[in-house]
Parts: sequence; structure tokens; C-alpha cells
Amino acid sequence: MNPRLCVAEGAQLASAHVTTVRVNASDTVSIETGALIFGVHTTSEGPRPAPGAEALDQALDGRLAEILTTMGFTGKAEEVVKIPTFGARTAPVAVAVGLGDAPAGDYDPETLRRAAGAAVRSLSGTATATLALPARTAAEAEAVALGGLLGAYDFTRYRTGGDRKPPVGELTLLSGAAGAEDAVAHAATLADAVTLVRDLVNTPPSDLWPARFAEIAQETGGQAGLSVEVLDEVRLKEDGYGGIIGVGQGSINPPRLVRVSYSHPEATRKVAFVGKGITFDSGGLSLKPTTSMDWMKSDMGGAGAVFGALVAIARLGLRVNAVGYLCLAENMPSGSAQRPSDVLRTYSGKTVEVLDTDAEGRLVLIDGIARAAEDEPDVIIDVATLTGAQIVALGWRTAGVMANDDSLREEVVRIAGEQGEGAWGMPLPAELRKGLDSAVADIANLQPERWGSMLAAGVFLREFVPEGVKWAHIDMAGPAFNKGEPHGYTPKGGTGAMTRTLVAVAEHYAGNGTSEQAV
Ligand code: BES
Ligand code: MN
Ligand code: ZN
Repeated sequence: MNPRLCVAEGAQLASAHVTTVRVNASDTVSIETGALIFGVHTTSEGPRPAPGAEALDQALDGRLAEILTTMGFTGKAEEVVKIPTFGARTAPVAVAVGLGDAPAGDYDPETLRRAAGAAVRSLSGTATATLALPARTAAEAEAVALGGLLGAYDFTRYRTGGDRKPPVGELTLLSGAAGAEDAVAHAATLADAVTLVRDLVNTPPSDLWPARFAEIAQETGGQAGLSVEVLDEVRLKEDGYGGIIGVGQGSINPPRLVRVSYSHPEATRKVAFVGKGITFDSGGLSLKPTTSMDWMKSDMGGAGAVFGALVAIARLGLRVNAVGYLCLAENMPSGSAQRPSDVLRTYSGKTVEVLDTDAEGRLVLIDGIARAAEDEPDVIIDVATLTGAQIVALGWRTAGVMANDDSLREEVVRIAGEQGEGAWGMPLPAELRKGLDSAVADIANLQPERWGSMLAAGVFLREFVPEGVKWAHIDMAGPAFNKGEPHGYTPKGGTGAMTRTLVAVAEHYAGNGTSEQAV
């Protein structure tokens, strides 16, 4: 059993329940469980049980395919149906989940993650459930465990009555694969980190303002073994963080810059992550319309992902040095708010004319990026819910990845893809720089036209990356928050997007335990 990470006492953030997972190498016969989850493939002859479902099929006299056909089940990806076992099994109910066509070789991990997530989401308050999905290798076992844990997420803290039950309390994964225990422990660490980020994103901004986020980073980060340093508004002003101060000055909740760091004695490489942490984005004096504002508690998803990733990196003990910057501010309109046409002197020394106070993410990020560069990392990656234009261009599930280095951009896109996190490479067209010219300052925070706004934001950020520093920018305005229905292992609301990708990037730079050089 893997102890779950809990947000510290007083943080009042942790989900009401924690789901655990353990590995059992036996078959399903001996296991008492509330629900038995198995996979089903589509074939030209109808649905066929996937590997892992053999014992259940035998107990039902080999009639599982027939039962599924009778129920109209096809086995297409994420299709779910519950079947009563009437005592044929120690589980009262079996849950069939579609896996689509059977693969020629190993399973695509994302197919398994989504299937496990969809099946677990269909449970309602079961104390225990058993995952009898394909888990013939450690990689398959990890995918099933991760999908199951992520699918078990529920944000119940603000529900009264206590009648809403989380999907499941404890998961058992059936796998005899070598290395399954370690793989499942790895999955549990990732799931903990994603859960933490989802909780942070879902927490209403009245309970998560910059100083509170910083406190949580200190408590939870400290427990995970991270060094945490918090710069308050006085320090930020003294040290010249004009971008963060400018964005935060309209709120009664002053801004913070949090530096979280992890180091390994044998590390040879250092990664730096910078997260946009706007705990609420009203737009400031350039106020957003109501319908664009109600989900802007999610505008700290980038800082959430950076923090969650650092916690996971520390708990995994990766052989890499990692530093994360959480650029925290609340963007509010008030008598003390920055005005359109104000000029900020940012940490880099460059001045920025604020033409639109709603283009605030880039203002806090450039201070974080300039500070991160002082750590002399091998790479800087910023993660941000930066532009509505990202959603226009790529939709809800695909983040845009831009970089000042082609191979780095391709590497980030590839690594995200391996985690099942949608990401696509985007250009930083040189001609967009001209649109950011300011009549009074070094640069303006906005181009006059809306076309290509995701790219223009990237071009703006690039101006603050010092020469010779490799940098990538992930715009995940859409993926950070699911306004639609749950799907696969993704719940409604905060998704924890890009947390796992950042961990995987750190693993890549750690050389996966070898001393091989990355990127
Ligand atoms: N936080 C928003 C971007 C956003 C939009 C995130 C939708 C998630 C969902 C950001 O601060 C913003 O307001 N961007 C503006 C920039 C514009 C003023 C250049 C936008 O995209 O409209
Ligand atoms: Mn904004
Ligand atoms: Zn914003």
C-alpha cells in the first residue's frame, strides 16, 4: 500500500478521501472485492474479453462474450457496462470497459489509463475494487494503476451532507509482471501529485490566494523534502519584480514568488520550471465579461503543475536538480490596480507597457523566467493558462508548445504525448515581434490585433529569456480545466494537466537513472 500524500493540517485542501492501490499477483478467484473491472476488445465477431478477464470468463462458463453481446456492448474505447455476477464471483458486480481493437503487441499505455479511469469513475462508493485489466508488463501495470487512481478523484470538500461518495476506497491491481510493485508505486506518486494540483485548481479563490498558496507550498513541499523560499510583496518590490507587483497591486491579497527546489547529490543536470499562478484572473481594469470569468480560479494551474511536479520529483528521488518558480498574484480591479498604459520595470531590467491588464500572465512569467535564468539551469520550461487563443487554435485537450530551440520543443511534445497529455508544437514567428512595439517602453504586453495571440504571447516571453538559455513555453489554457463532461481519467474541473509531463521531463534529464545526457 502506498501512503498517500496529504495536504498539511489546516490547509483544508485535501480531498475528503484517498484512494490507495496495491498489487496482487494471484488471479481473481480468491479476492473479495466490491467490483471486478475487466477489459473488452472489439472484433469483427463481436466483443471479446481482454487479457486479465480469463478467470471471470471461466467462472461464467465461458459465456462472457455472449453476455456482453446480449447487452449490446461493443468494446469500443471507454464504453462501460456493469454486469451482476450472481455469486459466480467473489465480486457482486463485474465492470466491463472497452479497449477498442486488440493491439498486435503491447498496449498503448494511454488506452489502459483511460479505460481504467472510465471504469473506476463508473463506481459509486464501493469500498474496494479490483482491476483485472491487461497488466502483463510493468508498463501496463503502471498505466492501469495510474488511470484507476486518477479516475477515482473526487473533490468533495465543499459538499454538505456527506452523502456523495467517492467512486472507490481501495484498488487492487492484479498483475504477476516483474517490477509491477515499483511501477505501481511510481503511478501512486504521480497520482498523488496530480490530485494535489486538481485540489489546488478546484479550490475557490476565496480560499486560495497567493499567500495561502505559498503557505501550502511551504507545508506540503517541506514534507516532501523540498526547500521552499517565499518572497513577499515587500521583498518583491525591493528586488525589482515589477511584473509580479504590477499584476498583484490591485488586490487586497498581495502577490508572492515561491521558489521550490530539489537537488540530488549525484545530479549533473538542472531543470527549471516556471508556473503562472494567478489565483483569480478578473482581467483587472481590463475586466473580463462574466462568462469568461467564472472559471478563472484555474488560472493558477501552471503554478499548480510546477509545484505538483516538484513534489513528485522529490518523492521519486530523481537524480536531477530541479527548481520551480510559482508566480502568484491575484489580478483584480481596484483603486490601486495597474492601469492600461502603465509602464512596469521588470526583474530582467526591461520595461513593459501594459496595454491590457488582462494580458497579466506574461507579466508575472517574465519575472519568474528572468529569476530562473540566474539558477543557470540546462533548460527553462514555463507552464501557463496563458491565452484564449490557445483554445481557439487547439481546443480543450491539446496544449501549445513553443520554444527557442527546435529539438527541445519536439522533445517536450514527445514526452507529453507519452504521458497521454495532448500537446502540439507551435511556431514563434519573428514577424510578430513588431506588433509588440511600444510607443514608450521597451515592449508592450499586447499586440494590437487578435490573430495569432497564442504565438504573440510566446514571442513576448522569448524576449525575456537570456541569450544561450534553452526555453520552452507550454500554453495549456484549455487543458488545465475541464468545463465539459468527465472522460477517461479526467474529471470535471481541475485536471492537473502537465504535472506528469514535467515529472517526465525531469526523469528525461535525470537520464532515467543512468548518466546519459538528455536533450
Ligand atoms: N487567463 C487568461 C487566458 C485564459 C483564457 C485561460 C481562457 C484559460 C481559459 C489570460 O490571462 C488572458 O486573459 N488572456 C487574454 C490575453 C489577451 C488580453 C491578449 C486572452 O487570451 O484573451
Ligand atoms: Mn488575463
Ligand atoms: Zn490569466
